[in-house]
Formats: sequence, structure tokens, C-alpha cells
Amino acid sequence: MPTTVRTRVAIVGAGPAGLILSQLLADAGLGSIVVDSRSRTEIESTIRAGILEQNTVDLLRTIDPATRVDTVGHRHDGIELRFGDVGEGHRIDFPSLVGRSVWLYPQHEVLKDLLALRLAAEQDLRFGVTVEGVDDGDPVHPAIIATDAHGDPVRIEADFVVGADGSRSIVRAAVTGSRSGGYFREYPFAWFGILCEAPPSSDELIYSNSPDGFALISQRSPDVQRMYFQCDPTADPAAPSDAEIWDTLQARVPGTTLNEGPVIQRDVLRFRSVVAHELRRGRVALVGDAAHTVPPTGAKGMNLAIADVVLLADALRALLTEGDGQLIDTYADRALDRIWKAQHFSWWMTSMLHVAPDASDFDRRRQLGELRTVLESEAGRTYLAEAYTGWSIEPPKR
Ligand code: PHB
Repeated sequence: MPTTVRTRVAIVGAGPAGLILSQLLADAGLGSIVVDSRSRTEIESTIRAGILEQNTVDLLRTIDPATRVDTVGHRHDGIELRFGDVGEGHRIDFPSLVGRSVWLYPQHEVLKDLLALRLAAEQDLRFGVTVEGVDDGDPVHPAIIATDAHGDPVRIEADFVVGADGSRSIVRAAVTGSRSGGYFREYPFAWFGILCEAPPSSDELIYSNSPDGFALISQRSPDVQRMYFQCDPTADPAAPSDAEIWDTLQARVPGTTLNEGPVIQRDVLRFRSVVAHELRRGRVALVGDAAHTVPPTGAKGMNLAIADVVLLADALRALLTEGDGQLIDTYADRALDRIWKAQHFSWWMTSMLHVAPDASDFDRRRQLGELRTVLESEAGRTYLAEAYTGWSIEPPKR
């Protein structure tokens, strides 16, 4: 017999979405249990993306007075887009175009802050818990069926279950009827990502569309850089030597000499655009990567997850403290408005900046025409700045 525990909201996934949701629910007087299959160390050390929109930063500052976004993170007031054989560069200045900025603050640092915040508030947070599925037989009391860190069965009964469990979501099956599927697009390239020990090569991010393919120059800290270059999706991260990696990167950012240093981590990131067919069924809902995946070029992943959570937290407050189901009934449609805008932006940045393996001379010249259309026009730069820094988060509906 499994051990049975009860809570108001059962949240699967202790990533940024799940942890912020538990905080917003606690602020509304609603208890929750958060479970994750990973250990705390694993969660705090997995290298993920790093760009936070202005809205995301405003929210982190509101919910966490101890956030290190302003001390460990860095405000970025622009990005550079570079293209062509000679590396023609155009800077997009966010504050002058849209009055907002973004912050480079790696996701694992956000997670360290959020875990500390929730544990200090005595959040019931369980690591090493493997979720097998959702029992939604009782329409108002769904339950999570899981195995705890000791291998013992556990049943978590709740008034609502939230899947914040990433792109391989287990909870998704309870909402869409299937663990896979959704509106889907694949890309014929991936990113080869590295972390290297060397000081930043540029103060701001450089997105470069070079004749040999895309590269992104980013940073992590005063001594560590994060860089990516377009590669084949089947590339083996262990295959190239450090020297080959540097040759590729240097060639793809004409006009800048990159600071080289030991490559301390390498990975290949597959590109996909996915939106689940449904985001909610009854008293089970999806947020973040469980609901959608974007290619990383637009830096939208974590921001989009947090925007979902803001909507869902308010809808759960209305449902579970006031018995008002109106906001939960419209959660999916309201979240999808933003999700599809972000899907478009991420697809657009990806297709404008990468060189498709089958690109013809026409395609290539058209792409450079597109970059000039956007970058030489204030309206074009403003669109890019508005989408990159993030659309405002819908104010809570009462
Ligand atoms: C990163 O620093 O990891 C990063 C930055 C911008 C992106 C994607 C990844 O668009």
C-alpha cells in the first residue's frame, strides 16, 4: 500500500516554473507539495540558458528579496546581430527602443535562489521522487502516483495537479492523452555549446550569421564564457578537439577575436518547436517545457515558463480559495496567446540567423536582405527589442 499524503496543489518539477508556482500559491495561502526526480545537487548544477526578460526579473525581485539577479547577474541593454563575410554588425539598443532590458543570469543560479527561498519557507519539496502518472479518476481530487527516493510507493492527493516537469513530461499524458505529440516542428541543425575558462570576449551577446553558419557569443561569469555554434543534429560532442572548436568559432564571428581558454563542458542541443494540443484537462494543467518547447535562439524558454505560472497561480487562487473557475477555464487560451507569439519569435530568429544545410544562393541573399530590412529600420529594431525583452505579463484578472 502506498503512503498517501494530501495537499492543495501537487506540483511535478522543481525547475523555475514549479518553484515559482509554489511561492505564488503560498502567497495566496495555498499549500503545495513539489516533487522532482532529480537531486538538489543535480538541479543546481545543470547548465541551461541564461537570459531573463525584464518581467521575469521584476517578478524575481518581488517574490525574493534575497535574489542575486543584480549581484551575480548582469543587466544587458542590447545585443549585436552580425552577418556577412566581413561581419557587418548592428546593435539593438533595448532601453532607447522599448525602455526595457534583459539580464544574463544563468538558470542554475536562479534555481539556487528559488530552492533556498522555498526551503526557508518550509516548502514540502521532495527530491528523487519518480512520478509514474496521474490518477484523475476523481474529477476534483486528482492524485500523483509516484515512488519516493527510498523506492517506496507514494500517492499525493490534491485539489489540483500541475505538470512543470519539462519536455519529457509524465503529467502531459493526463492532459493530452499522450506523452508525445503536439504542434511540432524540427530543424535541420543543432547548437554545439561550450563552457570555457576565459574572460568574456564581448560585453554583450553577439548573434552571428556567418557564411559558414550561426554562432552565439555569450558569457557566464568574469572567468567563464558560454558559446554556441550551429552544427549537424547528429554531431558527437566529444568528437572535435579544442583547437577545432576554436577554429570554427573564430571563423564564425568575423570582426572579433574571441578569448580562448580550456573547454570545460561541451554539449549538443537539439532544436524543436512544440506546443501541446491541450494545456489543461479538468484539474490537471501544464506549464513551461511540459506545455511547449522553443528553440533557444530567442532566449524565451525560462521566461515563457514563468509567464505561464503567473497566469496559472492566479487562476488557482480564484478556483481554490474563492471557488471561481472562470480564470482556470480561460488559462489555456490566455497562456497560448503569448506562447504562439514566442513560438513565432523563436522560429523567426532561428530561421533568420542560421544557414540551412540545403540553402541556395537565393535563400542566402534573401536572408541577408531580411537582416538589413529589420536592422536598418527603427520599426524593425523595435519589434526585435520588444519581443526579446518580453511582452508585458498580463495583470491578474479579478
Ligand atoms: C546562453 O547564454 O546560454 C544563451 C543566451 C541567449 C540565447 C540562448 C542561450 O538566445
